[in-house]
Amino acid sequence: MHKSSTHSHSIIQNTPEQVALAARNWFVSIAIMSILQRDRCLVALSGGSTPKRLYQLLAELPEGLIDWSRVHLFWGDERNVPSDHPDSNYRMVREALLDRIVGEKPVVHAIPTNGNTPYEAATSYERTMRSIAGSSPFVFDIVLLGLGDDAHTASLFPETAALKVTNRWVIENEVPKLNTTRISLTAPILNSSRNTAFLVCGESKQWALGKIHSAERNATLYPAQLIRPIGDLWWFMDEAASNIE
Ligand code: 6PG
Repeated sequence: MHKSSTHSHSIIQNTPEQVALAARNWFVSIAIMSILQRDRCLVALSGGSTPKRLYQLLAELPEGLIDWSRVHLFWGDERNVPSDHPDSNYRMVREALLDRIVGEKPVVHAIPTNGNTPYEAATSYERTMRSIAGSSPFVFDIVLLGLGDDAHTASLFPETAALKVTNRWVIENEVPKLNTTRISLTAPILNSSRNTAFLVCGESKQWALGKIHSAERNATLYPAQLIRPIGDLWWFMDEAASNIE
């Protein structure tokens, strides 16, 4: 099923595998067009478990379909762990995608957690992004996002300080409920995106999806409501997640 409104599209598939396949086709078409138009494709990857299958499918594309050497991979957020830690979003992408791409590799910009405090990692990463933007505005061609059961996205968790930050692109965000500090891109830079997709699977996401799409505007409680990109917004969901009252 496909529903569209201005800039927003909902794609509902029967299974998580079909969600990953639809998102792969979406990713390929945008990456190819971005490279044709601007000779590069800037991507913010989501962490978590949902996008892993998409990353595996992208690694299995025919060699050369995407000119990966023109693709810059960023992360929308990262845990405060070394890059080889089981909880690392970088490690998940390395195993699912980077180690498995045949031929040209993408340009990888991992959030530098190794040996840095969350503040050091966040400020260093923002410098990297600003240097790549140069004198032009930084606009992602693709932003991939997941959705937490509590309606968080990236590491923008309910009632945390990062939700109100507008003067930084990358922030160290203390998350009391997880007893940790995460590194996250902030809503303003995530919204600077031509094509944004949420990948949402499983019935545990029903509550969050219902809240986000309800008339109840409360980004403090439902941070995914902060995602209002300048370009198109796609929701790739399975039946289980989308079955909201
Ligand atoms: C992370 C992600 C986070 C994730 C959601 C959904 O670092 O974990 O950035 O925002 O997308 O928590 O996670 P699942 O895909 O595992 O349900």
